[in-house]
Amino acid sequence: MKILLIGSGGREHCLAEKLSKSKSTEKLYCLPGNPGMLGIAEPLGLRINDYKRITEFCLTNQIDLVVVGPEAPLADGIVDILSESNIKCFAPTKAAAQLECSKTFAKYFMRKHKIPTAKFRKICSENIDEAMEYIESHSFPIVIKADGLAAGKGVIVANNAYEAKAAVIDMFKGKFKEAGKIIVVEEFLEGEEASILAICDGNDFLLLPHSQDHKRIYDNDEGPNTGGMGAYSPTKIINDEILKKVEEQVLKPTLNYMREEGTPFVGCLYVGLMIHNGGVNVVEYNARFGDPETQAVLAHIEGDFAKLLYSAASGNIDKSAIRIKKDLHSCCVVLASKGYPISFEKGFEIKGLENIGNEDVFLYQSGTTLENGKLLTDGGRVLSLVTVADSLEAARKRNYEEIEKISYLNKYYRKDIALKGI
Ligand SMILES: Nc1ncnc2c1ncn2[C@@H]1O[C@H](COP(=O)(O)OP(=O)(O)OP(=O)(O)O)[C@@H](O)[C@H]1O
Ligand SMILES: [Mg+2]
Repeated sequence: MKILLIGSGGREHCLAEKLSKSKSTEKLYCLPGNPGMLGIAEPLGLRINDYKRITEFCLTNQIDLVVVGPEAPLADGIVDILSESNIKCFAPTKAAAQLECSKTFAKYFMRKHKIPTAKFRKICSENIDEAMEYIESHSFPIVIKADGLAAGKGVIVANNAYEAKAAVIDMFKGKFKEAGKIIVVEEFLEGEEASILAICDGNDFLLLPHSQDHKRIYDNDEGPNTGGMGAYSPTKIINDEILKKVEEQVLKPTLNYMREEGTPFVGCLYVGLMIHNGGVNVVEYNARFGDPETQAVLAHIEGDFAKLLYSAASGNIDKSAIRIKKDLHSCCVVLASKGYPISFEKGFEIKGLENIGNEDVFLYQSGTTLENGKLLTDGGRVLSLVTVADSLEAARKRNYEEIEKISYLNKYYRKDIALKGI
């Protein structure tokens, strides 16, 4: 089949690799893609939000499946637009993507359907006094979240009233534009975090191996939140008993109630979990593959990934299309630009990629650009490097050895990725 993949990050590079290696993929296009994907997918010269021309392209070129990587097109309703022309998408509609695109939607959905999650209050910018009073009366830490999309930066875990109030004022003043005009003030959950990705067809789902992300910029989980600085898979935090709880208390009710409410969820459902004393709470939903969890998780699968996504998009998931490799551990470290996520310089030449091992090592590009044949840094998160081995220790050790071979000015990465899992 012919597939169009939307997006340009490390996640999409990894998806492109899996799709291009799938038996049922005949041709893969990407929009816009990145320099790392050049050999495996044909880039389209369209704007990523020009949905009219994307539709025309799909119809003219008889695209069988569109796979959407990032959240912004989901929030725009790309799936609704393409579906009007009967173009099949592996991704949720705008209504189903509300699970990610509106924190308040997700919180009310979970409250209504008794899906375990932190207690919360929704507050609008007109009611700033209510926010201040609520913070005064609350214990700390407390969590302040912008309702809308904020590229992983719209959540502040505040340790005292001063930090909490400052976060609220920033959001109400427009730090995240419209996304922060409504906020969720949430109880702080103790525990260890893990992520689950489920391939969903609206009714049924296939669980992919679980993983743990590292959201803060500095070692020991310090500093501001980022889009994600590294991941490993599987985690030690999730055992069979917890997995059963996640399926029964979270995934099944989420899919069932989304369907009952007339907004069935098709696509990759990402559930961010807090696990404490054997209990699970949902921290968040994302309506798409995570970055960099996807890079760590997909390292475990073999088979026809394209067939899996196509079957899910068709409403009849074929779980036999892929297999999960046994006894494997993966480690993914993100190489960023120093200063990310606040401010950073770009345009520095990246060297040494040719020296990276080619067995059990996978390099994905995200913030890169090609200029006069040179590969330059072009974003906060520049590359992600994945290594696999039969133990997490070995995968991690190998990863940090390979990273040494890559050089560019202002290279920054966390040194403690996956340590928690060892
Ligand atoms: N109730 C909570 N208790 C403790 N920590 C929390 C809570 N809510 C969020 N966090 C922390 O903040 C991080 C970001 O929160 P959340 O996942 O809701 O934000 P996001 O911006 O949607 O993230 P992403 O970019 O992964 O989609 C979480 O991974 C977790 O570390
Ligand atoms: Mg999110």
